[in-house]
Amino acid sequence: MRGVVFDGRRTEVVDDLQVRDPGPGEVLVAIAAAGLCHSDLSVVDGTIPFPVPVVLGHEGAGVVETVGPGVGHVRPGDHVALSTLANCGTCAQCDRGRPTMCRKAIGRPGRPFSRGGEPLFQFASNSAFAERTVVRAVQAVRIPDDLPFTSAALIGCGVLTGVGAVLNRARVDRGDSVVVIGAGGIGLNVLQGARLAGALTVVAVDSNPAKEAVARRFGATHFLASAEDVRGILPDGADHAFECVGRTELIRQAIDLLDRHGQAVLLGVPGAGAEASFTVSSMYLDKAILGCRYGSSRPQRDIALYADLYREGRLLLDELVTETYPVEDFAKAADDAHHGRVARGVLVF
Ligand SMILES: NC(=O)c1ccc[n+]([C@@H]2O[C@H](COP(=O)([O-])OP(=O)(O)OC[C@H]3O[C@@H](n4cnc5c(N)ncnc54)[C@H](O)[C@@H]3O)[C@@H](O)[C@H]2O)c1
Ligand SMILES: [Zn+2]
Ligand SMILES: [Zn+2]
Repeated sequence: MRGVVFDGRRTEVVDDLQVRDPGPGEVLVAIAAAGLCHSDLSVVDGTIPFPVPVVLGHEGAGVVETVGPGVGHVRPGDHVALSTLANCGTCAQCDRGRPTMCRKAIGRPGRPFSRGGEPLFQFASNSAFAERTVVRAVQAVRIPDDLPFTSAALIGCGVLTGVGAVLNRARVDRGDSVVVIGAGGIGLNVLQGARLAGALTVVAVDSNPAKEAVARRFGATHFLASAEDVRGILPDGADHAFECVGRTELIRQAIDLLDRHGQAVLLGVPGAGAEASFTVSSMYLDKAILGCRYGSSRPQRDIALYADLYREGRLLLDELVTETYPVEDFAKAADDAHHGRVARGVLVF
């Protein structure tokens, strides 16, 4: 089968990939569509260290092909969106509704794929840039059959991360002011999360002026090319500032933009080991810096919720899909994403 493989030096679309059968508690999914998130590019450029060779992709949707013993919540033929959280479901963190904090879900990549007898790692417990992938049962979330796969795919990372950061982590309230730095796949979903939450002033900041129209479409009330101009709109600062790029100087800007009792939410992922600084005395005014993994999401609940909100016209998904590419055109999709020509590019199988 076809898939996108990174071997530590280059990325290649191969057609001789194999995946093992699902074991107990696992599901084999035929991927129909998969979005290209910046985190995939960050593996290739070394910002996110990951063992190789690895099958990329972590934002996909498709059809259940077979299920392993003990799986009852989905059946062959069901449409599913995939989460990246292979959480155990039995530990204290899972039990208290924090599957993103499950220790069994972090840092233990499996190798369900092979090529010419050589095993390949699975990225983010997911590897959606493959015709078929094996995931844990908790990761396969049933979606309505009428949801287009190209749109449903984006729920699995961009929407869970961005909307979840607003609703689950920051808990933005009606009337709050929000600044979103970076209006890519993640930032656009923070923008529409802020709209869902009832935020009043929502400032999008992106160095690429071509992002203005889509940022406004997703909920920005103002658009700026530089965070330095935010005080012109919010003289006292913001209740919430989300960093959605992954640069330490923008993290600093997000913190400096906070109003009293404000909070900066860090979504972008700079290189491993990167350090950022802030003025300590400014923080005594009840300010907070919040890390956020994967929108602090509970995928079985949140993916179903976002699918319902989409069907009601309250959550935009189709508008995120600027371009679709056959998987063979991965290099073009990566180039378009790298140069900011798309909100999200989506690979189809
Ligand atoms: N925390 C998580 O769980 C999580 C999940 C997914 C992705 N991420 C991370 O989120 C970040 C964004 O991912 P994405 O897929 O939205 O990327 P993207 O490439 O789609 O978007 C990035 C945006 O930032 C803008 N930008 C770049 N430099 C800028 C600057 N100096 N000032 C203002 N804007 C600037 C770009 O124009 C672009 O619109 C990445 O670091 C990714 O690894 C984190
Ligand atoms: Zn992602
Ligand atoms: Zn757990």
